[in-house]
Amino acid sequence: MKAKVQILLFFCLNILNGQVDYTSQIQIIFTSNCTGCHGNSGGLTLTSYSSVMAGGNSGAVIVPNDHANSLLWQKVNSGAMPQNNPALPTSQIDLIALWIDEGALAIPAITTPTLFINEFMASNDTTIADTSGEFADWVEIYNPSDEAVDLAGMTFSDGVDASAIPAGLPNITTVPAGGFIFVWFDKDPEEGPLHIDAKLSDGGESVILFDIDGTTIIDSIGFGE
Ligand code: HEC
Repeated sequence: MKAKVQILLFFCLNILNGQVDYTSQIQIIFTSNCTGCHGNSGGLTLTSYSSVMAGGNSGAVIVPNDHANSLLWQKVNSGAMPQNNPALPTSQIDLIALWIDEGALAIPAITTPTLFINEFMASNDTTIADTSGEFADWVEIYNPSDEAVDLAGMTFSDGVDASAIPAGLPNITTVPAGGFIFVWFDKDPEEGPLHIDAKLSDGGESVILFDIDGTTIIDSIGFGE
């Protein structure tokens, strides 16, 4: 029961605040309250991400994903640290816990949206005409989540050629919550933001959708001749 409540709380905090950013949200707490003693004079050093993670005389002070077992959180939660100073405000103690429970990352992880390549048509000559009346290869993207997802910045590849969906046209490039969008593989990018500079019928053997980082695969399908 307790675990369930904690998970729910964590989930809500996450939605409200997004992910905690170490540099702008956590390091500034240490810099304002801790580095006067935990500078570079031996023992625990709290001046940078790597020194925090390196730990002190008792070893690691951060256990990623487990704030309760992290010595640093225990010390600030009990008020033992900052030594000889008032305890940190609860909001900062909770923020440190949330950062640890999100994995104690140096840089927030990219949260990859869930999208599916639902259907595709290669060598399309009769089925569905695109917006300019041409019969092009297409793929249908399905968004099963309850939040709209803008494809801007994501890359489509057929395994040979690739092109990114341009930004700045969210009214065209957004897949509605629970909805679909067609992306055309017609080598006609000038026709609009959903036209990829590749043709499935030109020998490509797969469709791959990459996240905005260019490397995380959101979904992919392979197909034969
Ligand atoms: C007035 C000086 C002072 C301040 C300010 C201070 N500390 Fe400390 N802290 C110490 C001393 C002294 C020790 C024991 C020696 C050591 O391990 O470095 C210690 C120990 C610790 C330890 C245990 C390290 C280990 O390896 O056993 C942690 C964790 C810690 N402090 C975290 C913090 C955090 C986080 C802050 C800021 C919110 C903070 N401290 C502020 C003086 C201070």
